Amino acid sequence: MDQDAMKKAAAEAALSYIENGMIVGIGTGSTANHFIDLLAGIKARIDGTVASSEASAQRLRGHGIPVLDLNSVGQLPLYVDGADEATRQLYLIKGGGGALTREKILAGASDRFVCVADGSKLVNYLGKFPLPLEVIPMARSFVARELVKRGARPVLRDGFTTDNGNVILDVHNLEIMEPVALETELNMIPGVVTVGIFAARPADVLILGTAEGVKTLS
Ligand code: A5P
Repeated sequence: MDQDAMKKAAAEAALSYIENGMIVGIGTGSTANHFIDLLAGIKARIDGTVASSEASAQRLRGHGIPVLDLNSVGQLPLYVDGADEATRQLYLIKGGGGALTREKILAGASDRFVCVADGSKLVNYLGKFPLPLEVIPMARSFVARELVKRGARPVLRDGFTTDNGNVILDVHNLEIMEPVALETELNMIPGVVTVGIFAARPADVLILGTAEGVKTLS
């Protein structure tokens, strides 16, 4: 089974968390795209979705699945999204696709966050994957200097603007031994909109597609 088939298998397993009449939060990325395509097959069972990016909203609408405004929906019963790294404690790094801010909003506004990924995303410690930070453009240099002071190496994601009009710094060489503490610390640097560590609000369920089948951690 190749990596894409493992992502699809994980996405398919997440369908079992859907209940009739739900409004479902939808993530961003290739695994979330599999989930969207599979959701199309049961779209009559749900009342709509809230999307974490313009790209996902467009894909959902392409399948004729309603996309709603979070402000008119309130609390979400379920949010399904991928990850760039995940630990057994269900701490995540997200933002490889640049949608981390809206993803963190939907994770925060959901009762159950089901993370779907291929098995290669499981790690003992977060941080090998460069940590994405969404930053207000005028604060780019200042935030970068603050990160260098902490021994990290921030790299501007060239030519990329988020759905919110901001830039992304991909931060290398960060030791993430205490994910909640580091998430809080980096969040406090003025100009940082969102840190790609999802630890203060981790996933509730992690579904991994592997060569040996689908594994679920919770
Ligand atoms: C999007 O901003 C990210 O958080 C994605 O969820 C993450 O990059 C996982 O993407 P894939 O499903 O494409 O691996």
